[in-house]
Amino acid sequence: MDKLVVTGGGRLTGEVAISGAKNAALPILCASLLSAEPLRLTNVPELNDIGTMLKLLAQMGVKVEREAENVTLDASGLNNPLAPYELVKTMRASILVLGPLVARCGEARVSLPGGCAIGARPVDQHIKGLQSMGAEVGVEHGYVVAKCVANTGRLKGARLFTDMVTVTGTENLMMAACLADGETVIENAAREPEVVDLAQCLISMGAQISGAGTDLIRIRGVEKLHGASHRIMPDRIETGTFLCAAAITGGEIRLLGTSTGYLDAVVDKLLDAGCEISGEKTAKHESIHIVAPPRLKAVSIRTAPYPAFPTDMQAQFMAINAVADGTAIIRETIFENRFMHAVELQRLGADIKIDGNTAVMKGVERLQGATVMATDLRASASLVVAGLVAEGETHIERIYHLDRGYANIEAKMTALGANIKRVKA
Ligand code: UD1
Repeated sequence: MDKLVVTGGGRLTGEVAISGAKNAALPILCASLLSAEPLRLTNVPELNDIGTMLKLLAQMGVKVEREAENVTLDASGLNNPLAPYELVKTMRASILVLGPLVARCGEARVSLPGGCAIGARPVDQHIKGLQSMGAEVGVEHGYVVAKCVANTGRLKGARLFTDMVTVTGTENLMMAACLADGETVIENAAREPEVVDLAQCLISMGAQISGAGTDLIRIRGVEKLHGASHRIMPDRIETGTFLCAAAITGGEIRLLGTSTGYLDAVVDKLLDAGCEISGEKTAKHESIHIVAPPRLKAVSIRTAPYPAFPTDMQAQFMAINAVADGTAIIRETIFENRFMHAVELQRLGADIKIDGNTAVMKGVERLQGATVMATDLRASASLVVAGLVAEGETHIERIYHLDRGYANIEAKMTALGANIKRVKA
């Protein structure tokens, strides 16, 4: 397996282009299943997770054309509403095909994703919502098997309430509702910007949706959706990760093609840590500029659904707090097992005490390079960020997690002056 070797020291300076958002692109790729006309997408990030989703859609009969960041999907020949375990097990977001398949084909068989490193991550809310919309849903041999019971073959609009805020759950049900008979209301909906990006794409395909970005989304079902073109929004987590990388090195960088509007909670904490951050918008470009002090101040965070601090930035903030001045308290409220990077950061010399979902960190003067293991996507990013300031070499193993969610991370970091190399297995 490939590994990354990061040699610490040196400030990051320069410019970096931010890619399209993985978590917006994945549901939007699935939205192509809802129409028999082509969906043209731009700014699709070149990531392993995107490759997996395209493979999954292709084996259902979707025609896929991909050229760099442009993807066209034509689901006119959709003929196999099945998501097999072999593909779903590598990427939980595969569950996002469930709603669109039932809505368009009247049936679907989608492998249950199973647990993952950061927690159990059930999909009961996705299932409950589809049942309320008139689908018969059961689990057979590890697969979610769903079928529309109405003799029209269509789902029925319904009032849906999810027990907790779920991002992909909201997206799955919103997509299913687009072709349902009548109005669907999703209460307690996720407000993440990626939900809004998906809604905008669906609206450009002819869907009737209002309220995306609030906790109450209304969808009036239509008979069919048509083809459309859509540009994927910038990746706010990649943006936040590069902000942390600049911050920890006392650097100064400009991030191109992204905006502070998507990550107020993260920017707010970096300002508290002593950074100066400004957003710029011209007719052509949006960008963010960050200047970091020589040493950051410790900042406490508590993860919660948008617009609060994102769980996908928790690990990177643990890295910056590891060397900040003072004590920070980190509370993780979304996933039950999302502190595995803490043990790896301790190997680099971080002072972290964990009690349940709370980590108490005391910043140390310096970290020391060591061999560490990436345990999940964002944990891997936190190890890269920490490696940038650790003395000597940090060897990060199992970086396939990183390749799932960060496009060309070592090339982008190197262009900013980081010393980071991929060592092929
Ligand atoms: C999405 C993001 C992921 C991010 C997470 C939280 C994508 C592809 N992934 O994941 O990067 O970390 O949101 O912001 O967009 N839950 C249930 N039952 C369900 C659904 C969820 O119990 O049916 C629980 C989960 O276990 C978790 C919480 O609800 O504890 C929130 O999870 P959810 O928002 O669904 O995460 P994902 O959509 O899987």
